[in-house]
Parts: sequence; structure tokens; C-alpha cells
Amino acid sequence: MHQGIPPALRAKYRRECGARCAMKTTENALAAILEESLYAVSANDEDITPRFFERFFALHPGQRANFFHPNITCGAMVNEILQSLLGLATQESWVPTSIQSLVIAHRSYGDIPLALYDEALDLLVETLALAAGERWTTQYDAAWRTQCAELKIMIARAH
Ligand code: HEM
Repeated sequence: MHQGIPPALRAKYRRECGARCAMKTTENALAAILEESLYAVSANDEDITPRFFERFFALHPGQRANFFHPNITCGAMVNEILQSLLGLATQESWVPTSIQSLVIAHRSYGDIPLALYDEALDLLVETLALAAGERWTTQYDAAWRTQCAELKIMIARAH
């Protein structure tokens, strides 16, 4: 069941995001849910990058060797995936071009099958859910899965 943001956290959210975020959330219900869920994720003050990559490398140990600068690139990758998913929700015009460029650039990291992109997106949603713990809701989950489905189509086109 959707719990909403606890009042104390809501105040913190307003302070930190400011008027721009508040306006955006009223403009787009889906983006509002995504933002709210990230707030639930950040409530535990945990960096999700190590959590994501621990699971990713456990599932695909061979991929570890392709990350030559993990301290820089792992965080950048998680951030880029999140930004792209959020950008899709607010119909940011840069998203299709950015994804196309990223998929092309990723060819230099070896043969990354399309299924691995899909898996990485699903894994990121699972990572968010685990990091948020009991704050995670089915509404958050559905919102991220909707965005992932859209991004998967975009990645498939560029692949
Ligand atoms: C939507 C999906 C993805 C996005 C948006 C994305 C984004 C990024 C970004 C922004 C970087 C950092 C580039 C840099 O700073 O030079 C990166 C690096 C990298 N990504 Fe991805 N990525 C995605 C999926 C994947 C998948 C599925 C793999 C599979 C193995 C992968 C493998 C890599 C590798 C090997 C690097 C280079 C790491 C290094 O040099 O240390 N990415 N990615």
C-alpha cells in the first residue's frame, strides 16, 4: 500500500529540492512518484552503487574485468541509468539521443547482449527496493517498472 512521505522527511525534501522539484512533481504524477521513491531510498542514507554492482558482478563475474575505473564509472553508470529513467518520465528531449550514444559507446566494452541491459535495469529497481526497505511501495515499484519498459525499448532500438 502507498504510504506517502512521512511528514518529517517531506519537510526535508522540500528544503533540499526547492521550488523547482515541487513544481515538477505537480506537473507529472509519474515523475512525482519516482522522485518520492528516491526520497524513500535516500532516507537510509545508503549509497546504492556498491549494492547494485555487488549483485551485478555476482550474477556476471566476467564483467568485473571490463570495469577499469570502477571508482568513477560505477557511480556514473548508476547515476546515468537513474537520470535516463527520470528524464523519460518528464519527457526530457535529451534522453533518446543520450541513450543511443551510450549504447554505441558501450560497444567498446565488449559484446553486451540486449538481455543484459534489461537485466541491469531490473536489478536497479530491485536495488532501489532493497535500499528503501519497508518504505518501498507497490506503487513505486510499478512506476519504475513502467519507466524501465520504456527505456528497454529505446535501448533495443539503439542496440
Ligand atoms: C541503461 C543502461 C546503461 C547505462 C545508462 C550505462 C551508463 C554508463 C556510463 C555513464 C558509464 C561511464 C562512462 C564513463 O564515465 O566513461 C558506463 C560505463 C560502463 N558500462 Fe554502462 N550503462 C548501462 C548499462 C550497462 C550494461 C548492461 C553493462 C554490461 C556489462 C555496462 C557496462 C559498462 C562498462 C564495462 C563500463 C566501463 C567501466 C570502466 O571503464 O570502468 N553498462 N556505463
